[in-house]
Amino acid sequence: MTATQTSDVYYDPYNVNMNADPYPVYRRLREEAPLYYNEPHDFYALSRFDDVDHVLADPKTYISGRGGILEMIKANIEFPPGVLIFEDQPTHTTHRKLLSGVFTPRKVTALEPKIREFCARCLDPLVGAGRFDFIADIGALVPMWTIGMLFGIPEQDQVFIRDRGNESLRTEAGKPMEAKIDTGEAFATYLDWRADHPSDDIMTDLLQAEFDDETGTRRRLTREEILTYMAVVVGAGNETTNRLIGWAGKVLADHPDQRAELAADPTLIPGAVEELLRYEPPGTHIARYVTRDVEWHEGTVPAGSALLLLVASANRDDRRYPDGDRFDIHREFRLGLTFGRGIHYCLGAALAQLEGQIALEEILKRFPEWRSTPAPPSSHRRPRSAAGNRFPCVSPDESLPVSDESLPERIP
Ligand code: HEM
Repeated sequence: MTATQTSDVYYDPYNVNMNADPYPVYRRLREEAPLYYNEPHDFYALSRFDDVDHVLADPKTYISGRGGILEMIKANIEFPPGVLIFEDQPTHTTHRKLLSGVFTPRKVTALEPKIREFCARCLDPLVGAGRFDFIADIGALVPMWTIGMLFGIPEQDQVFIRDRGNESLRTEAGKPMEAKIDTGEAFATYLDWRADHPSDDIMTDLLQAEFDDETGTRRRLTREEILTYMAVVVGAGNETTNRLIGWAGKVLADHPDQRAELAADPTLIPGAVEELLRYEPPGTHIARYVTRDVEWHEGTVPAGSALLLLVASANRDDRRYPDGDRFDIHREFRLGLTFGRGIHYCLGAALAQLEGQIALEEILKRFPEWRSTPAPPSSHRRPRSAAGNRFPCVSPDESLPVSDESLPERIP
């Protein structure tokens, strides 16, 4: 039926060993089976940059309303209104407009001093300790504090809220997902309090925002809608940014010359963060539901199929990035499709990059050199499970920065 069947390449997103280094398989997929069909799990996959880019830019044919994770599409979940990442036009347009108003570049830039303070709070006690963990000691904390600050959530409650958000998007290998979309009830107490005590935070912005809904009625958001928005942002912005910081530790330990350049010239750091995002995207793939029969590489993807877009493969496609498997902070075009593209392009992309840049700057100031060592079992490591969890805004238990080599050791 497709070009796939002439090749014996096998790609299984649930295979933990394959996920430890999926890049050789991605390369084979791009070359031998650019349209791939996986029979056991019943999904199609595209792996070349142009193909993934094309699909993300066509939200009518490839919809998000059935979920953006394979297990969700299989489970036929109904999402409450406001889960914009899993909505389609026109509802998505209305909901996105509201949330984009609270993520303006001005508001993001204004967060810089606070994020820097958060990083210092994590790192200063570690100076002289000899070793630290990029994931547990900084990655798990700074994004959580940043989002907590945006929402005005007291620090003592942020851990619970972060873990709840991450948990609600966790899936199990090959199993359709249970209907456990977080409707944000964890934030209800703060929201109700904030309604009577407005402040300079997102919660207040959302409470006060007026908009024309899809029926043309001018109104404010309901309590339930705001709670859902908050759950989406917490789910989308925590573990992804954590993993970006984790990958910075691992990849720069593997490329000490480029790390030395960054330590000597911090103006290179924003470009290096883009290259890190291209080279090791926090989520390896995004899923879409296909609404009509489509032709790809002489094969047909039937209406009703689940289609995986292998972003991590697209980002290394030599057609787009010469010598794509090479990490190079001086590369001209970086970033790739890590934050998606088109109508669902990540609303937190600027914030995540800012957090990554500041974290890296502050780490390099205090620890200009490190090497990675095998990680002992620790509280942030959960049992390895489904590779479907490697979706950007979901937790990938088996992703590398939290796996065997995430502990950098300071070289005196
Ligand atoms: C390195 C960190 C991050 C990565 C790699 C990432 C990746 C992504 C991707 C790929 C999408 C699009 C998914 C799709 O097309 O189905 C997305 C959407 C989204 N992200 Fe992020 N994200 C990151 C950080 C953040 C942060 C920090 C926030 C907010 C604080 C955030 C909020 C969102 C929201 C609200 C959406 C939904 C946008 C829409 O559907 O219109 N993300 N993200």
